[in-house]
Amino acid sequence: MNEPVSYICYVNGEYVAAEEAKVSAFDHGFLYGDGLFESMTVVNRRIFRFQDHLDRMERSARALRLTLPETRERIAEVVKECVRRSLVDDVYLRVVVSRGAGYPLLDPRVCDKATLAVLLHDPAPPPETGSSYRAKGAGLRLKTAGVRKVPSESFEARVKSLNYLNNVMARIEAVESGFDEAILLDTRGFVAEAPGENVFVVKDGVLKTPKAHNVLDGITRKVVLEIAAEAGIFAEEADLTLYDLYTADECFLTSSFSRVHAVAEVDGRPIPAPGPVTNRLRGEVLEMERTQGEPID
Ligand SMILES: Cc1ncc(COP(=O)(O)O)c(C=O)c1O
Repeated sequence: MNEPVSYICYVNGEYVAAEEAKVSAFDHGFLYGDGLFESMTVVNRRIFRFQDHLDRMERSARALRLTLPETRERIAEVVKECVRRSLVDDVYLRVVVSRGAGYPLLDPRVCDKATLAVLLHDPAPPPETGSSYRAKGAGLRLKTAGVRKVPSESFEARVKSLNYLNNVMARIEAVESGFDEAILLDTRGFVAEAPGENVFVVKDGVLKTPKAHNVLDGITRKVVLEIAAEAGIFAEEADLTLYDLYTADECFLTSSFSRVHAVAEVDGRPIPAPGPVTNRLRGEVLEMERTQGEPID
């Protein structure tokens, strides 16, 4: 048996063991979900699309009028140092920036300095979620959630904020009904995304994904669109309905954690999975991750 890895994380200036990674109960991230995050993978001691994640982190911070507590370069160095100190080649990590600790009042002026945490965690999810969507190889069974995606008119979907409650409710709904994952519609009834993933369909050789309007501008989504462009696979961003999912030749979800994951069923309608386009894109993303990420050392 391998010894469990002891991950080294970072919280507000200190490198600490994962069990010791703590922030104040007065932190506005905890009190109000006032903050942002980025999730990324380290494979083969390389951080995949690191600069894209840092770009999105900076965009989220600007949109939230949140001053990052360290420079982008310093945050990048802290992330790499956590991986070095953890002595691992492959890991999942999360950068979390919140408004910081302060008087429990919505007004951000009560927080002196933003909180910065870099959290490393096992690529394998805990066993209680083991039957869920990360189960290797199996296509996902999706359920349309009753809860809708918050429209960008209410809160901009491109901000990767700490407000994930509607996504959490959608996941609960799917899991309690015996499905692996949820799919959220936007308030117009068009397909938006899964709680933590973008969605794609393949129909008659054309790759389609919802427009970036009401969804997170996922980095894996961008990578998939780039691969498709290079491979000569015609791709378009379009308003998709549930009918498009139900009648797709292939359907898959994308995220930094699940990469490209085949969908085998939506609301009880079977979809062939994994299809050839899904397999090809998944293979290319995994290969890029292994060879093209930014080196830690
Ligand atoms: C709501 C949502 N959509 C899509 C994604 C996929 O984004 P990325 O490919 O950048 O991981 C995520 C990732 O966490 C997410 O939270």
